[in-house]
Amino acid sequence: MALILLIALVALVWATDLLETEPIKPIPQKVEYDKKKAKLGKLLFHDPILSKNKTVSCATCHDLYNKWGTDHREASVGINGQSTGVNAPSVFNAVFNFRQFWDGRARDLREQALGPIHNPKEMGMTKEEVERRLNENPVYRKLFKEVYGTDRITFDQVIDAIVEFEKALITPNSKFDRFLRGEIELSKEELEGYKLFKRLGCISCHNGINVGGNSFQLFGAVIPVEWKPSNPDRYRITGREFDKNRYKVPSLRNVACTYPYFHDGSAKTLEEAVRKMSYHNLGYKLSEDEVRKIVAFLKTLTGELPEILKE
Ligand code: HEC
Ligand code: HEC
Repeated sequence: MALILLIALVALVWATDLLETEPIKPIPQKVEYDKKKAKLGKLLFHDPILSKNKTVSCATCHDLYNKWGTDHREASVGINGQSTGVNAPSVFNAVFNFRQFWDGRARDLREQALGPIHNPKEMGMTKEEVERRLNENPVYRKLFKEVYGTDRITFDQVIDAIVEFEKALITPNSKFDRFLRGEIELSKEELEGYKLFKRLGCISCHNGINVGGNSFQLFGAVIPVEWKPSNPDRYRITGREFDKNRYKVPSLRNVACTYPYFHDGSAKTLEEAVRKMSYHNLGYKLSEDEVRKIVAFLKTLTGELPEILKE
């Protein structure tokens, strides 16, 4: 009996230790959010009523059920078939990013949500038009009254409900998170991939809960890539030379499912993205065997679809 207890204790300490020392942290299994607001936000997220010609919703570019919160296009397309020229990152786990957008111009999800609604290429709406349309809609008037207790729907409430929904869009229990919690083992190939990811230095930019999403870094840190004025990089915000080709590091959560890759969708496959990253950001040409192992590791970062989508 004592022996069993001792073994259990050692296993627990080992698992806790692993959690504390590993540079990647598991996604929490539950997050706090207001259920009523989030349900309303879910409806708004999927409703094209929020775009000028009623053809585009948030979900047009962030398909939650089939495309892991992205649109699988190189660059997203908004109202009247206009291209945004930029690849849509996933909205899954965006709540854990330190800033939003490739250039980090939004400090949080609230600030972010204003972007697409007002952007003439995406949804092209004014605050007043959003309020007018929703207040003319008896179903929404009733729903907002139930959640916010007011007779008139305000733009602030619309954003508030969408943000509350986005808080629920987390994808916990990936194979890798279960490994971190000491619940399962990785295969030999996956584990070797993870070790390479750490040893080569991918981890210096891709770490934390989102395996990214917590710093601004260069694309081309060692071997520069061509700079284009259309880049959605930090330079757009700061105007400093230093910030050309510098982006918010994308999250690698669910990365096997969020192709194509990079801010312009220029890498079609995960293999290609991994090869280019290693070459340009570490100055190292990966062998095919190393690519295979790293990709096997990256595939373990695919989590479970958010609970709120099953309701
Ligand atoms: C026309 C397509 C389109 C629509 C509609 C759209 N988005 Fe996006 N979304 C994008 C693109 C493209 C980006 C990246 C833009 C950039 O970084 O400059 C983005 C970025 C984001 C991000 C930041 C993620 C990150 O990692 O930085 C969030 C969150 C988000 N969108 C949520 C929403 C919400 C909420 C709505 C609806 C109110 C919405 N989007 C509507 C295309 C779209
Ligand atoms: C110096 C920091 C840095 C290092 C080191 C680094 N990355 Fe990146 N990674 C980035 C940045 C910045 C981007 C965004 C580039 C862009 O979109 O133009 C990115 C993008 C990616 C993407 C595409 C994600 C998406 O959704 O578009 C993958 C996959 C990736 N990195 C994997 C790796 C791997 C594997 C390594 C190690 C071989 C690595 N990275 C090393 C900073 C880094």
